[in-house]
Amino acid sequence: MRLENLTNKKLRAWIDEMARLCKPDSIYLCDGSQEEYDRLSAQMVAQGTYIRLNQEKRPNSFICFSDPSDVARVEDRTFVCSHNKDDAGPNNNWRAPDEIKAVLTKLYDGCMRGRTMYVIPFSMGPLGSPIAHIGVELTDSPYVVCNMRIMTRMGAAVLKTLGDGDFVPCLHSVGYPLTGGRKDVPWPCDSENKYIVHFPEERTIWSYGSGYGGNALLGKKCFALRIASVMARDEGWLAEHMLIMGITSPEGKKKYIAAAFPSACGKTNLAMLIPTIPGWKIDCVGDDIAWMKFGADGRLYAVNPESGFFGVAPGTSMASNKNAMLTLTKNSIFTNVALTPDGDVWWEGMTDEEPAQLTDWTRQPWTPGCGRPAAHPNARFTTPLAQCPIADSAWDDPAGVPIEAILFGGRRSSVIPLVTEAYSWEHGVFLGSIMASEKTAAAAGKVGELRHDPFAMLPFCGYNMADYFRHWLTIGKRHGAHLPRLYYVNWFRKDDMGRFLWPGYGENCRVLKWVFERLEDAAPAVDTPLGRIPAPGAIDVSGLSITHEAMAELLHVDATELRNELPSIEKHYRQFGNRLPEALWDQVRAFEQRIK
Ligand code: GTP
Ligand code: SPV
Ligand code: MN
Repeated sequence: MRLENLTNKKLRAWIDEMARLCKPDSIYLCDGSQEEYDRLSAQMVAQGTYIRLNQEKRPNSFICFSDPSDVARVEDRTFVCSHNKDDAGPNNNWRAPDEIKAVLTKLYDGCMRGRTMYVIPFSMGPLGSPIAHIGVELTDSPYVVCNMRIMTRMGAAVLKTLGDGDFVPCLHSVGYPLTGGRKDVPWPCDSENKYIVHFPEERTIWSYGSGYGGNALLGKKCFALRIASVMARDEGWLAEHMLIMGITSPEGKKKYIAAAFPSACGKTNLAMLIPTIPGWKIDCVGDDIAWMKFGADGRLYAVNPESGFFGVAPGTSMASNKNAMLTLTKNSIFTNVALTPDGDVWWEGMTDEEPAQLTDWTRQPWTPGCGRPAAHPNARFTTPLAQCPIADSAWDDPAGVPIEAILFGGRRSSVIPLVTEAYSWEHGVFLGSIMASEKTAAAAGKVGELRHDPFAMLPFCGYNMADYFRHWLTIGKRHGAHLPRLYYVNWFRKDDMGRFLWPGYGENCRVLKWVFERLEDAAPAVDTPLGRIPAPGAIDVSGLSITHEAMAELLHVDATELRNELPSIEKHYRQFGNRLPEALWDQVRAFEQRIK
């Protein structure tokens, strides 16, 4: 494909402008073909970025190790640059657009010298779907190109669909120009200057200095959440940090559910769950992001904007997530996991027994007990969704799938019960807005710290979170009849000894079953101050060895504990000032009454 043949004038002009700024040696328009993918992969092997894995054990797959300074999303270097600071809200880092453009323009000037600028046309969502949108990423990283080919629909077909239409411009550079005889390194990045910048009014993304995950694969968090959440607010739809799954009962009845959990809190695992109760079946539509629009029939339809999984590797095993393990048997990219002597991958939790010797993610020899983890805690696999053994038959359907329930959840070692049903849409929005979770390794920073992470969107909402709450409330008013029901779940409650009370993983189907039956009005619930929880015995624990005490503790809602949460909820709300919808303060007051 040749640049000269690009007919879209805005695209042509933007590429020219960015090339004049970044000054690459050449510009390459990606066609998305297998041949192109293989060629770029081979080039990265030659360059030392990739190591090809053993062809027999892991066909057409590669491992790479990032720079130790570039291992996760950098929330403190992520900016939402609306014209007014208040429009970004207290949930975002803000800079004036002109100011940050001046800073970044300096950094971008000549940043691609000695490199190729790749032009990646991509569709978030099935090509041509009324829910999908197109973006174009310019990057100097072939690693980004290969990951984008797995994670999005990418290449020539997208340009065809785009025609003269509009797209979201996404500029990315690793920030490591090859000037003055500077040699390339396996993982180029700029450890001193990282900027992940969003211009919501222009619907534009500028990213500089990082090559890792959501910092660099700009279709994912930057576009599909931060920019798309703004588009969704303006256009009356939802762009959410949610998995999408189908659940089929033994009677053959199927429903689709979406679930929002913060990063590294169990979306991929739930999306690929293998039910432990006989007769139930799960199908996977997506594991990270959902775009949802109301259809002509009034129901809420979801597509997965992505076409692959960028999943947390550590902890993934045949026991914990067999479907993920089977998905990544071939055509996959592994970043920051460990390499075995026979050219395969390993990470903590993959097998019961640790290998005798490995090359760890820092490229050093590793032996059991050496005191370092072999894989980085945020090591990831990139793998095609189509390879998932339980990929839903409609995962690529442009029409999307109708959502009947939405779960919110986080890591809470106490207070929050296994599952709670909201009393109403507004009450569900309240529950989503007050959810909190312990921080994980998915973002740079302190792990384990409890923070409010409303709707699992704290790092991903591209505008003032108070307006986001209002948007959810408005959706509720506008679409009353067919709204999904809302739930709050917690797989992570612990006992006095610090052990998880709930076995989790495949056993989570027992909670999904209760939700499913609630939707059919076929499961009993009891009212608590937090919401409706399963009546005693309503959660099917047949075949599960769990004590009555543990179940009681899991479903215990303690008014005193909830009262202790109130100050932090009020503090959390107060940061939004008078922008916070009054309806949510009403919810707080009603909650206060119930816990009195
Ligand atoms: P992102 O890709 O960062 O958005 O994460 P995610 O929400 O998809 O999280 P993922 O499913 O990758 O799980 C992250 C971690 O949570 C892994 O270490 C899992 O082993 C663990 N985990 C997932 N489900 C459960 C569960 O039901 N119980 C417990 N205890 N741990 C779980
Ligand atoms: C997350 O952190 O929620 C992820 C990984 O899914 S990243 O693509 O890096 O955002
Ligand atoms: Mn995620």
